[in-house]
Amino acid sequence: MSSENVSVAQLERPPAAPESEKASIEAEYGQDPYGLLEKMVKTYGPVCHLPIGPEGMVVVADAEIAEKVLRLDFHNFVRSTEQEDQLSPLLGQSFVVISDRERWQKIHDVILPNFTPKMLLRYYEKTLEIVRHEVEELAELAESGKQFSFYEFARRGVLGALTNTLFIRGIQESDVDMLLEAYKKTYPYIAKLFLFGEEVTSQFDDPEIIEGRESLEKINSYIANMVQMRRQDLRDEPEDMLDVMIAATMSDGSKMSDKQLQDDIAALFWGGQDTTPATVSWAFNYLSNNPDKRQLMLEEIDQVLEGRAPTFQELERLEYTKGVFDEALRLRTNGVTLSREAVKDTELGGYLVSKGERIGIVPYVIHRDPRDWPDPETFDPAHHTKERRAQRNKCAFLAFGYGERRCIGERVGRMEAMLMLTLISQRFLLDRVGGGMSPKAVSMAVKPTDGLPMQVSSRR
Ligand code: HEM
Repeated sequence: MSSENVSVAQLERPPAAPESEKASIEAEYGQDPYGLLEKMVKTYGPVCHLPIGPEGMVVVADAEIAEKVLRLDFHNFVRSTEQEDQLSPLLGQSFVVISDRERWQKIHDVILPNFTPKMLLRYYEKTLEIVRHEVEELAELAESGKQFSFYEFARRGVLGALTNTLFIRGIQESDVDMLLEAYKKTYPYIAKLFLFGEEVTSQFDDPEIIEGRESLEKINSYIANMVQMRRQDLRDEPEDMLDVMIAATMSDGSKMSDKQLQDDIAALFWGGQDTTPATVSWAFNYLSNNPDKRQLMLEEIDQVLEGRAPTFQELERLEYTKGVFDEALRLRTNGVTLSREAVKDTELGGYLVSKGERIGIVPYVIHRDPRDWPDPETFDPAHHTKERRAQRNKCAFLAFGYGERRCIGERVGRMEAMLMLTLISQRFLLDRVGGGMSPKAVSMAVKPTDGLPMQVSSRR
């Protein structure tokens, strides 16, 4: 139905899955959210209502309608308050959780200068050093012929780079290993937290859950300690993200408190520590499965770089390699939904969405729409050439979100990933043990559940 001549209140409600199926839909959503959402969209259409969560969720699985929510009509939609409640035990009052637009803007403005070209260049130099060090480890593995978990390897490299980007001063050598272990142990706790909320979860006496909660406390006290130490060691010129945030002045003239700094650093850690390594892992898994595409990437890297490490500017010139990363993001999208809430009764896809309703935009389904992605299940980095990008809606690719709440760390994540892809591929070939794709599961990011077992061999 067209909404043009009809007032919003007269519109029909979106097609809905029956409330009587709530239990089975929620169970399936818990097991395989992507599969469930794909099935529901096929049955009920790209805008439909599902009985998931306390109030249900309006699913949006169409690029044009997603663009309306994220950009064209963004004032009518905020980050969902349900998500704010869900995430605040993990991320405190960081800008990530805030649904109130004014409060979010105030903090976002002081985080943004972390991503100026000058600061990115600083992070680039440190990241390059760390990835080079990681790559040396592969030489030993190539020589011994030992199999290894690529996902664990990538996590270590990315967390090392991210930690040094956040805190270039004050880091001890053992910190990254401690953080790696701690993050890993938090997952069982976080899974329960998202399902049952903090009050119920804090009463579980399962050792895994207790260990998860303690690990989260360990990470938070590490961050608090870094903030305290930095107060005694300030520099005129900011060297890392913490320096930038301490120096920043908010729009009301105030500085960030220790608690706000801790929460926002924790958010930047959570935003980057799992998404990037998971995607780099999928990229190498797809490359191992598609030797012809791998060859095209190697030719580009060899031709542009002639054996050198890329400069920061050269990363942009590696178009096909960038396409490899984007294609891994398209097919193995992190996160299940981009979560929003309608601030007033409004129209979406010709239907009425009521004030306060939760909206879940589903990049996974949008990334498989054959109108924008011919042969959508095929891994093809050429999907991301400039010409093809120009032909489709901006919201046909939502791996980093879109509009004002788009991923703030995208350039850092891309830089880490591109350095891993290029520096590793200049010297080594990675092949998944047993071939094929690793099984996937969602927990914060979508990860290979077997850790992605790889065999490495030298190219020359
Ligand atoms: C492959 C890597 C990454 C992917 C796929 C990714 C994905 C996303 C997505 C989809 C969103 C937007 C959610 C929405 O619209 O509701 C987001 C937000 C965010 N990301 Fe990333 N991210 C990545 C890397 C990073 C890195 C490296 C950092 C930190 C340095 C980071 C920090 C954040 C933060 C803080 C937000 C919240 C922004 C806000 O609410 O204003 N992300 N990310």
